[in-house]
Amino acid sequence: MKSASESIYETVISLRNIIIRGVYKNILKKIFFQIDPEQVHAYVIKRGTFLGSDTTTKYLVSFIFDYKNKKLEQTIAGLHFPNPIGLAAGFDKNAELTQMLPEIGFGHMEVGSITGEPCAGNPQPRLWRLPKSQSLVVYYGLKNEGCEAIAKRLGKGEALPKPCKRCIPLGISIAKTNCKATCDETAGIQDYAKVYTTLKPFADYITINISCPNSFGGLQFTNPKCLEQLLKKIRSLRDAKPNVPIFLKLGADLTSTEVDDIIKVARIYHITGFICTNLTKIRDNPSIKEKDVPAVGGLSGKVVQELADNMIAHLYKKTGKEFVIIGCGGVFTAEDAYKKIKLGASLIQMITGMIYEGPQVISEINQGLVKLLEKDGYQNVQEAVGVLSHNAHNAKR
Ligand SMILES: Cc1cc2nc3c(=O)[nH]c(=O)nc-3n(C[C@H](O)[C@H](O)[C@H](O)COP(=O)(O)O)c2cc1C
Repeated sequence: MKSASESIYETVISLRNIIIRGVYKNILKKIFFQIDPEQVHAYVIKRGTFLGSDTTTKYLVSFIFDYKNKKLEQTIAGLHFPNPIGLAAGFDKNAELTQMLPEIGFGHMEVGSITGEPCAGNPQPRLWRLPKSQSLVVYYGLKNEGCEAIAKRLGKGEALPKPCKRCIPLGISIAKTNCKATCDETAGIQDYAKVYTTLKPFADYITINISCPNSFGGLQFTNPKCLEQLLKKIRSLRDAKPNVPIFLKLGADLTSTEVDDIIKVARIYHITGFICTNLTKIRDNPSIKEKDVPAVGGLSGKVVQELADNMIAHLYKKTGKEFVIIGCGGVFTAEDAYKKIKLGASLIQMITGMIYEGPQVISEINQGLVKLLEKDGYQNVQEAVGVLSHNAHNAKR
């Protein structure tokens, strides 16, 4: 039974979210969707950086967006997550929003992907909306300021007074610089190693992005032999802060056999878990409703949802709780997030749902998750993890 104060809190949050949703969908989204998506992205980063720069503005953001509930808390790989919903890599490429993202209600944030050298990315245009499909076409090509500049920024954040310090786990997504030189396997590994050593001191966890669909040399590190060399190198660098959990971000278009081969290598090198999934490149996906889709780039949102769900289920059926699964792709509602949890994900990440639905969607999903957990009689998120895949996993043992 909820106490009276809990019921009032839940009602106030619901009403607040209805108002913010109305403002976003009827005013802000209509304006934003008239403007070039990359310009909007840059504008939001600029505003977000400003809002995160001061205690008063941060408090205001938290007042408008935050939501807390004990049932959503989890400790995973030694890290405390106040709720399961995190920001996926690619939105805050240069780690400019780390002061603001906790206030908007995220339970963790992943910045990057960050590369060894600064990278201008692919020529513009490189970001498109597919509104009928509720998807984005992304062809940024790992645009970012490079690990050294970003380490300086994160270093300044560490020096901030306590109320400005982050209070949710910070994941850092690392990738190899998008250029011809890193197509060579040894050079590619060196580049990953440089980002890893430069940024590890600031990370609560590291994600090795082996699935950027828009980079030179393609997805060479999904090949188990190349992946093994990469993870061997990373393992040799782990001594200084050995317990930083490491995740592998998988591509949406991998076959089950390819995933199985990756699992084998991940076991040897004590990988903490997987993020399922990155963007999809496949163009004959029935979820694509538009006729004209740019030939380049990877697709996000609803187009990748089922692919991600299938991979989560496959991984969980194969490995149970041996690895932590972070579900990502097409999460727009609490039901979408809950499905990924029941298939085997302990944590969720999102970008596209926030762009289509508005930033209050984080709080809406978290509040909705609590209701769904209660409806099914679960006390917390962990109790629901993998319930749809459990039987299959147990049968395989
Ligand atoms: C604008 C944009 C940029 C992205 N850049 C990256 C990136 O740099 N590294 C990465 O691992 N994933 C990147 N992604 C993929 C997302 O992290 C995520 O895996 C994918 O979008 C599916 O989630 P969603 O449907 O919630 O957007 C990007 C996605 C978007 C929309």
